Amino acid sequence: MCQNSARGSLVGMLKSLRVCKTIAEIRDVVKELRRSGPVALVPTMGYFHEGHLTLMREARRRFPSVVVSIFVNPLQFGPQEDFKTYPRNLERDLALARETGVAAVFAPEVEEMYPGSVLTCVDVERLSAVLCGCTRPGHFRGVATVVTKLFNIIRPDAAFFGQKDAQQLQVIRRLVRDLNFDIEIVAVPTVREPDGLAMSSRNVYLSPEERRAAVVLYRSLVAARERILAGESDLAAVEEQLAADIAAEPLAVLEYAAILALPDLTPPTDEDRELLLAVAARFGRARLIDNVTVWRE
Ligand code: PAJ
Repeated sequence: MCQNSARGSLVGMLKSLRVCKTIAEIRDVVKELRRSGPVALVPTMGYFHEGHLTLMREARRRFPSVVVSIFVNPLQFGPQEDFKTYPRNLERDLALARETGVAAVFAPEVEEMYPGSVLTCVDVERLSAVLCGCTRPGHFRGVATVVTKLFNIIRPDAAFFGQKDAQQLQVIRRLVRDLNFDIEIVAVPTVREPDGLAMSSRNVYLSPEERRAAVVLYRSLVAARERILAGESDLAAVEEQLAADIAAEPLAVLEYAAILALPDLTPPTDEDRELLLAVAARFGRARLIDNVTVWRE
């Protein structure tokens, strides 16, 4: 009997996910949720994997209500990029969000978020011009703009982002600071496959051979971090070796391998203590990124 009632309440919890397609609907739902305490937001483009679910669980652990947005944002894709083919599966995502105890999902159509042309954008200068910003011009403007819109629509008390997208995280921290959003930004460590590959919706593009080769990113990053921790102070040499290690993998086409200072993503000086080691490479049609951070004494 006890089991039954526990099951009953679990089913009750599972049933309570609210799915909103419009801005007006999600605003109403959030207003209601706020009556029982602070609200956390997890912005996503969907096609959930364990990385997304970890963000949701972490948000759930710390906040009474969690709202997840699912929106493949056309503004952050270049004309030659994979906006059209980006993997989508809303039904599966909703089931996973429900199981994770998410209170509401905001899944608008493009027309709802961008009715007509966009004349107002948010640009986080300098931070958007390095690393992925060099090969993806306009990408971080698209990210900063949609995240600003989501913050204004949902008005969360906190928002959760993955370390996996380290540059995106710094861009968002900076926009929150510069535009005076009263929102706590929580960073969640990168969730990895058992062999070290960072989980990503784009991993589905990998052939079995490319999947095996892709582990070179994390392996090379860890080796570079070890060298710095062992006392190597010639960061240019570490960066060069990092690039060489990835380029040595025949299926990898290296885009960048860089060491920058956090949080400003500037070239490191001897005084900088917290460093970001970041890489991007193509494996077939999949463009993958990864990073680790290191604290130098
Ligand atoms: P998306 O790639 O769907 O990622 C949503 C969130 O999940 C981001 O904060 C991302 O850093 C985090 N994430 C992805 N893979 C992860 C992993 N392996 N471990 C931990 N966290 C991971 O990032 C975006 O969407 C978009 O740019 C968005 C912020 C939603 C704006 O459109």
